[in-house]
Amino acid sequence: MALQTARPRQGFFGIPTHGSLLLLLLSLGWVLASTAQAADTGLGVMTPWLQRTSQDLSWQRPELTVILPRARRDTEKKACPPGRKAQVVDENLVFYEEWELEACVDGALLAAQMDRVNLVPFTYQQLNIFKRKLDKFYPQGYPESLIQRLRYFFLWVTPEDIHKWNVTSLETVKSLLKVSKGNRMDAQVTALIARYVGGGGQLDKATLDALASFHPTYLCFLSPEQLGSVQLSVVWATRPQDLDACSLQQMTVLYPKARTAFQNVSGSEYFTRIKPYLGGAPTEDLRALSRQNINMDVATFKKLRTEAVLPLTIAEVQKLLGTNLMGLKAEEANSPLREWISRQSQEDLDSLGLGLHGGTPNGYLVLDFSVREASSGGPLLLRLGPGPVLTVILSLLLALILN
Ligand SMILES: *[C@@H]1O[C@H](CO)[C@@H](O)[C@H](O)[C@H]1NC(C)=O
Ligand SMILES: *[C@@H]1O[C@H](CO)[C@@H](O)[C@H](O)[C@H]1NC(C)=O
Repeated sequence: MALQTARPRQGFFGIPTHGSLLLLLLSLGWVLASTAQAADTGLGVMTPWLQRTSQDLSWQRPELTVILPRARRDTEKKACPPGRKAQVVDENLVFYEEWELEACVDGALLAAQMDRVNLVPFTYQQLNIFKRKLDKFYPQGYPESLIQRLRYFFLWVTPEDIHKWNVTSLETVKSLLKVSKGNRMDAQVTALIARYVGGGGQLDKATLDALASFHPTYLCFLSPEQLGSVQLSVVWATRPQDLDACSLQQMTVLYPKARTAFQNVSGSEYFTRIKPYLGGAPTEDLRALSRQNINMDVATFKKLRTEAVLPLTIAEVQKLLGTNLMGLKAEEANSPLREWISRQSQEDLDSLGLGLHGGTPNGYLVLDFSVREASSGGPLLLRLGPGPVLTVILSLLLALILN
């Protein structure tokens, strides 16, 4: 039992601990039997290792660099010696040399006996060999039947591996999250969530809570409903780049959450925190920010929702950007500034002194028929003037009303 619980962390973070493993095995009293077994098969592979280990337990690191290239070369050459072909995953395999594992263990056996792979205290190198063998056996990605039984072996898979998987079982997700906890598996967890949610899977509250112990790089893979259940502590742990892939719909859910989460901070710290979420902010909140001398940068302004920016007055935009106002000129052709400019009178825009173009020419009136606009794609401009033009406007208005 001690072996079983101690092993995964050791294997994941550590350099193989042949020395401590050996001590453990010696204390369990079966190393000598295994050595005798190895000698019986005429190999005696344990002898030099035992001798060295008994003299000095700190040899592992330098020795690795010597062993690895040799093991690689051997792999290319050697076939599995007679009688060494593995029929079962058990403790005997711990004493196989790396080239023997390469030659004598196959991916099908590892997949079939994954539970045993997790029980036996294999070294870092040995597990690496098993991982390569499984990958070769399943070049298209592991089948879900294996993923369900992976347990600690999950610590060996990469996000790229996971992106090939189909994960439809919430139980599987939960068990892999449990294994991942505390093991720097953020990228793998994100990939797992992406595959599960991408395949139509629903996360329950318990799973969302379990996710809170990982870095929230998975946020943009959650549906708006799932985001609604995310804890406020997750919002605190989120970095701006974690939100890069989020859609407008997702930001609309996250923004009010962030506003609640950050209500215990104020002033410039509040603005710094809320900034990455402003893509989901409504007009009223932008108005409120414009009164607080925040000097919003142009990069943040660019990410605001067009509908939220459109109702802002020139004075409000001016106050919102403050010292960063000059930067707007470079954005005049892009959303949301382009749409906003087209709603302003050119005369008022000119008063900003930025050289912004595209406003409503002087003497024109912007008629905002929101419903019609959706199909025509722009505001309606009417020339204001004496006589006949006014008649046109009146008949047009009449036509619109009667419509
Ligand atoms: C995942 O599912 C798709 C569609 O059913 C299938 O074509 C693919 O082979 C599956 N991949 C794996 C690794 O099971
Ligand atoms: C506000 O609350 C969060 C979590 O609830 C905490 O991490 C943070 O330190 C608090 N900040 C202040 C200024 O109280």
